Amino acid sequence: MSNVKFLSGENIPLEMHRVRMVQKINLLPVEERLKCMEEAGFNTFLLKSRDIFLDMLTDSGVNAMSDNQFAAMMQADDSYAGSETFYRLEKVLQDIFGTKYFLPVHQGRACENIIAQTFVKPNTFALMNYHFTTTKEHIMKNGGTVEEIIGDEAMQTTSDNPFKGDVDIDKLKAAINRVGKENVCFVRVEAGTNLVGGQPVSVQNMRDVSKICRENGILTIFDASLLADNLYFNKIREAEFKDVDIKEITREMMTLMDVTYFSARKLGSARGGGIITSNEEAYVKMRELIPLYEGFLTYGGMSVREMEAMAVGLVETLDMEIISQTPIFVEALCNELQSRGVPVVTPPGGLGCHVDARAFCSHIPSEDYPAGALAAALFVASGVRGMERGTLSEKRLADGTQPTASMELVRLAVPKRVYTLSHMKYVADRLEWLFKNRELIGGLEFVEEPKVLRFFFGRLKPKGDWAGKLAAQFRKDFGESL
Ligand code: F0G
Repeated sequence: MSNVKFLSGENIPLEMHRVRMVQKINLLPVEERLKCMEEAGFNTFLLKSRDIFLDMLTDSGVNAMSDNQFAAMMQADDSYAGSETFYRLEKVLQDIFGTKYFLPVHQGRACENIIAQTFVKPNTFALMNYHFTTTKEHIMKNGGTVEEIIGDEAMQTTSDNPFKGDVDIDKLKAAINRVGKENVCFVRVEAGTNLVGGQPVSVQNMRDVSKICRENGILTIFDASLLADNLYFNKIREAEFKDVDIKEITREMMTLMDVTYFSARKLGSARGGGIITSNEEAYVKMRELIPLYEGFLTYGGMSVREMEAMAVGLVETLDMEIISQTPIFVEALCNELQSRGVPVVTPPGGLGCHVDARAFCSHIPSEDYPAGALAAALFVASGVRGMERGTLSEKRLADGTQPTASMELVRLAVPKRVYTLSHMKYVADRLEWLFKNRELIGGLEFVEEPKVLRFFFGRLKPKGDWAGKLAAQFRKDFGESL
């Protein structure tokens, strides 16, 4: 990120940190990788960490922590009520975000539970740039309907739109007119829009959304779980913020949104979550549910050690050299893959590199879960664990119909400061091999299909013995190599 030019002109993601603690990882031979995949029911969530070489499932709770975060954990105050740790964290949040109130919770979806129970009434509509899996589930559980109002370009895997996460303002106005402002429970904006490829939202778009919502008396909710990546892109891609302090950008966002929540497994590189707001009425309503679902108001189900790490992690989010690390590695991996002909979502976003499984496995119909099949095939070919983000992650309709996801992606998350450039090159190499052998990959079908969030622990099997054939081809092409 720092202004360092290489003589060769190459664009290399230079690490602005050094590594002082490491964890050994193993790369199993392809035959064993195949066995692990079979035992995991062709669902990468069910693999065991010890069998994985590069774990690119998620950046949630697995980002590398800084020396200062570890040091801060030592000063945690365990008191059940009135802990010093809580007041330290509260102060940091007030300082960075400029908001008054803070409700601690155990993770991001716990915020969603509290927010949905408080504000979603039966037959109301939650309008949002795009849903996240757990968000949608909580809204539906409370009788609400999710309606997505993201710009059409977000659904095009390749684009040069710098803010593909933006709300389409015309769609927002039309939705409010159609359902009636009194039937909109809230408008939710998700930073670093996860399911469309970690695509950012511009501050200008947030200003426009906020103006319309305030004119119509509609509550605005901001999911800031992926705010760190989003802020990096606001600085890099939104001209007016080039020289504006990150804290100033963050504070402006807060003035535009009524209630903000975040998963601190992502934002702040620790484990936990929080809801912040300056709206006293909303705060008082949500506060009632915290002791019921989370814990006392000064820890909310979190370990105080994690809260201390979070406080430091949030301050570090204001440092461009720290928050640039994931986006520049995502960009490097995307560029590497594109140069080898592998279809990926562009422009590169935050969170991870997203492989377009619909284009990669165009021979596999959506009902055979191409992204799920590709994620399984990638593990067999490389020991790299990615995450299916496509039709498999969609919920069946009440009548059992299987909706087709708008995008069929395999997400290769780049946890912050965990992997190196050689790891990225390895991923690109194995994906290139897989792309050349893509006709070998076949579809999947469910063996066990849970009713709620089925992608987490559903079990599948391949249609035919394609996985065995893929492993045999790997052995043939790579000889004795792992
Ligand atoms: N909102 C967004 C945008 C998220 O990405 C996540 C989690 C949550 C809310 C829920 O937070 O996991 O702490 O309960 N995303 C993880 C992922 C699971 O892998 O993308 P949580």
